[in-house]
Amino acid sequence: MSEPAASRSGRPLALVTGASGGIGEELARLAARDGHDLVVVARSADRLDALAGELRSHGTEVEVLVADLETEAGQGAVERRLAEAEAGDRRPVDVLVNNAGFGTVGRFVELPVDGELAQITLNVSALVRLTRAVLPRLVQVGRGGVLNVASLASFEPGPGMATYAATKAFVLSFTEAIREEVAGTGVRVSALCPGFTHTGFQERAGVRTDGVTGLAAMAWQRAPDVARTGWEGFVADRAIIVPGLLNRAAAVGVRLAPRSAVRKLSARVVRQLH
Ligand SMILES: NC(=O)c1ccc[n+]([C@@H]2O[C@H](COP(=O)([O-])OP(=O)(O)OC[C@H]3O[C@@H](n4cnc5c(N)ncnc54)[C@H](OP(=O)(O)O)[C@@H]3O)[C@@H](O)[C@H]2O)c1
Repeated sequence: MSEPAASRSGRPLALVTGASGGIGEELARLAARDGHDLVVVARSADRLDALAGELRSHGTEVEVLVADLETEAGQGAVERRLAEAEAGDRRPVDVLVNNAGFGTVGRFVELPVDGELAQITLNVSALVRLTRAVLPRLVQVGRGGVLNVASLASFEPGPGMATYAATKAFVLSFTEAIREEVAGTGVRVSALCPGFTHTGFQERAGVRTDGVTGLAAMAWQRAPDVARTGWEGFVADRAIIVPGLLNRAAAVGVRLAPRSAVRKLSARVVRQLH
């Protein structure tokens, strides 16, 4: 990002959650390419180590922080790292990317409640807690930012992914509100709203992707493309970033169409994933 660096190394520091795969791993690569050092966070130590090795070979300094953000201990560890000011070897974080997240697919009455609550913990509670940990210092120094990964599902109710869509509606609303609160301070706050993207997301959700047809099938994107649009939008200080032409049309469409029609269409699209 074209803003003054806070660190002694002369490079800003970005912390990316969910950097062990999918969109987060690509966002970490893009931040490094743009001159950031990194703190990479996820549960999979081996995958974080592999990414760290790759980035270090290009001159990026990388801290690996293994943490399960569905737990109090994991959230606390990342929260403490984000709240750190410059001290000794430690450098403060300039950019937070809240990307870690997951979804469950199925009828709410049939899904185990633990998975529903875990989504709220990861997609909502961890994101709020980490944002709160970093933002006061960013506002104080007047630079840096927060990129929150929401979803196209943020714009509509998600029958078949009810809890997931609700968590992502929260992320979008929260991000827009925080952005407005810090406007004029020099701190950037953006929401990235991807549509269907080929990542480990579908495997964890236990869904099939080959049943998706029509326009929804044509909207599938690759993680590097989604991340590139997201990172460029964040650098350009855009509030809401929707990658892909069809996804952008869908985001506008759901705002104009009657809510009853949106619910039914959304249910039909998600049903194709079962
Ligand atoms: N793929 C899509 O179609 C799509 C569409 C819209 C929005 N999104 C959003 O994009 C974001 C990234 O997802 P993705 O598609 O890239 O999926 P992914 O490939 O499954 O990546 C998810 C990342 O989050 C990490 N993660 C999961 N649970 C975690 C936990 N408890 N603690 C710490 N890290 C955790 C995973 O690492 P570990 O497993 O190593 O912990 C992984 O690095 C999510 O917020 C998702 O909701 C995805």
